[in-house]
Amino acid sequence: MTRTLKAAPAVPAVQADPREPSIFDKAHAFMAPGAFVPKVIASGLYPYFRAIERNEGTRAIVDGREVIMAGSNNYLGLASDQRVKEAAVLAMQQYGTGCTGSRFLNGTLDIHLELETRLAAFMGKEACVLFSTGYMTNMGVIEGITSKNDLIFSDHDNHACIVAGTQVSPARMRRFRHNSIGHLRRLLTRADKEYPGAGKLIVTDGVFSMSGRIAKVKELVDVAAEFDAALMLDDAHAVGVIGPGGRGSAAYFGLSDKVPLTTGTFSKSFSSLGGFAVGDHDIIEYIRHNASVHIFSASMPPSCVATVLKCLDILEEETWRLKRLWEISHYMREGFKEAGFNVWTSQAPIIPVVIGKDMSTAFRFWTDLLEEGVFVNPIVPWRGAVAGGFAIMRTSYMATHTDDDLDHILSAFERVGRRHGIGSNGVV
Ligand SMILES: Cc1ncc(COP(=O)(O)O)c(C=O)c1O
Repeated sequence: MTRTLKAAPAVPAVQADPREPSIFDKAHAFMAPGAFVPKVIASGLYPYFRAIERNEGTRAIVDGREVIMAGSNNYLGLASDQRVKEAAVLAMQQYGTGCTGSRFLNGTLDIHLELETRLAAFMGKEACVLFSTGYMTNMGVIEGITSKNDLIFSDHDNHACIVAGTQVSPARMRRFRHNSIGHLRRLLTRADKEYPGAGKLIVTDGVFSMSGRIAKVKELVDVAAEFDAALMLDDAHAVGVIGPGGRGSAAYFGLSDKVPLTTGTFSKSFSSLGGFAVGDHDIIEYIRHNASVHIFSASMPPSCVATVLKCLDILEEETWRLKRLWEISHYMREGFKEAGFNVWTSQAPIIPVVIGKDMSTAFRFWTDLLEEGVFVNPIVPWRGAVAGGFAIMRTSYMATHTDDDLDHILSAFERVGRRHGIGSNGVV
């Protein structure tokens, strides 16, 4: 088969400067010829940091070729919507390109306040605080709300930014097995014996970013109440995706009033950059005044804020988008299963296709898919991204994918699957 991908430039041999501090040794070892990353780059199969030359929502231009985008978190398909772009441009004209300061000091615009009020109302909560990214939101909220004598109970498959939050927090941290209420309960019982009276925070993704699994919110609410713990949901992949009107994972289970803290991001359904936390007034004000990343980092740029406000308008007005997104998720999940692929227990518009444990097969699979005109996200066992050491092709969908797009994606997977013995005739 002829590969049309450009060969990656050869990696020059990197020599450590003998006068250099030893802390940099690991960087030179990482990039030494024959090490893993340079080897994959030299093979022409390196799939990361690929430049997208144009992005039209369901279509992207990569290496001058149009491909179907099945690897973005642009769930509502609004990132290239003309109305959203115009709102962003208008805000930039009125307020400039950036805030050049933190919310605490000179970085609060009237539209930041408008967005906080709007989101609190949308999520049925008293108050909201914005952060500059979704990552900073979870770090900031966890760091802001916990202190030395508290305990954090974190699902094993939680996103890296939750893990980062637990690392910057002075509280003790316990990880419970993924979605295992039994294990969580055991850890809570033990903690109550060892640290009676300690404050407790249970934290979980609402929809898990790699598997598309929905957290067991009902059971978590019950366990939190039993052990006097607070429950925090990271709804990065849930707000604007699941629950009535896209109100997230607690709303999906009809339990919004039982979850005191929910975070989210604007980098997915809301096609922007930034994040938020919603909850009771005092809790949100405490976080606003205590989260280091909120106080000491510049606020969301005006164009990003205006983008989210416009996306919220559209989400509320164009109810077909969520309906279509769910039809698509169902269609694709069933389509992959019929073609013999393992999609784990995906329940959302994130559908992982399991490739196996061999990274080079995963890279070849991804390259072949791109040649078939389909862009997905190759996730390999790297820094704990996927549980169980599996490589997956993480596919994700937009309300604006057409039926033809979906069928093209499925047939491309079938062709590439046959080539690699994965799918109907293969294992995994
Ligand atoms: C579950 C989850 N939480 C938080 C984040 C961080 O959001 P952002 O990319 O907006 O910083 C992500 C991003 O992928 C995510 O998947």
